[in-house]
Amino acid sequence: MSRTASAQPSELPRTGALMGDPPTAAATPAQARARFFNSGNAFNLKLAAVPRARFDAARDAAMAGDAATGAYAMDQSAALGCGFPATTPLVLARYLRVNPSETLATGFAASGEVHYVIAGNGETKIAGETMAWGPGDVMVLPGGGPVEHRATGPDAAILWTVTNEPALAFERLCPPAPGTAAIDPVHYPAAEIDRQVAVLQAMPMAADQAGVALIFSGERTADSRNAMPSLTLALNTLPPGEHQRAHRHNAAAITLCIEGEDCFSTIDGHRIDWSPFSTMVTPPGEVHSHHNGGPRGARFLIVQDGGWHYHARTMGFTFEE
Ligand SMILES: [Fe+2]
Repeated sequence: MSRTASAQPSELPRTGALMGDPPTAAATPAQARARFFNSGNAFNLKLAAVPRARFDAARDAAMAGDAATGAYAMDQSAALGCGFPATTPLVLARYLRVNPSETLATGFAASGEVHYVIAGNGETKIAGETMAWGPGDVMVLPGGGPVEHRATGPDAAILWTVTNEPALAFERLCPPAPGTAAIDPVHYPAAEIDRQVAVLQAMPMAADQAGVALIFSGERTADSRNAMPSLTLALNTLPPGEHQRAHRHNAAAITLCIEGEDCFSTIDGHRIDWSPFSTMVTPPGEVHSHHNGGPRGARFLIVQDGGWHYHARTMGFTFEE
């Protein structure tokens, strides 16, 4: 018997085979808590698949004219069968909305967080530093302490935010104590990102290279090329009429569609059309490709739980065409 696809340990029935066989002669409470399975009923477990998804509803809720300041999570925990909010098993994505002159205070139980500014101007305060930002800016912040986002312009500010809260929640881990995180706040202004992309696009491209990606890292994570130990962050660009070669990897990807007309992704044979500033999930291990059928260049921002996979030597990247 295999384990129920979507069940988590806390949700498993309290009696019956799924709970395993208890000891036959328990002499202490600790011995009584033991359960025994075997290679016939607890091997090659099959959990609920990570749904491929496009989160228009959360985007629309955050961007509605009368939306309140707050966080709008893209939560697939019910489909994943986990007892904490999650977009993929290890990552949680949100849209943050901050109305003019208002402040959104957060204290995510994460070891780090990635932010992209979709709209508006504002400033973020963390650990005694203040970063002023505008559309197209990227920030990577340490978790474990309070963060304040304030909208300083006449319009509401919309941020796209990804954290590794599910990874910590899975093991009931606490975020790092203030001052002990593996990263420091890093700010990538839009103008600098554009300069870096222009440099990349001026480089000669290999014959089989489709598109150009800018990889975001920081002073303390440069050795790993990651934005933070567990997450990778890349801005992918795709010229008109081109597509990114079909490939697969074991890291799950969260993709924000930033620019592009008539763009779509193919994931495990399913076509998912892009929608402005919608968020897509590429499940781990599924073959996928990105296509730009429009007249102008496309841009999309991708966060992956790739740091975990690089560290575990399980990335499993392969081209499929
Ligand atoms: Fe990919």
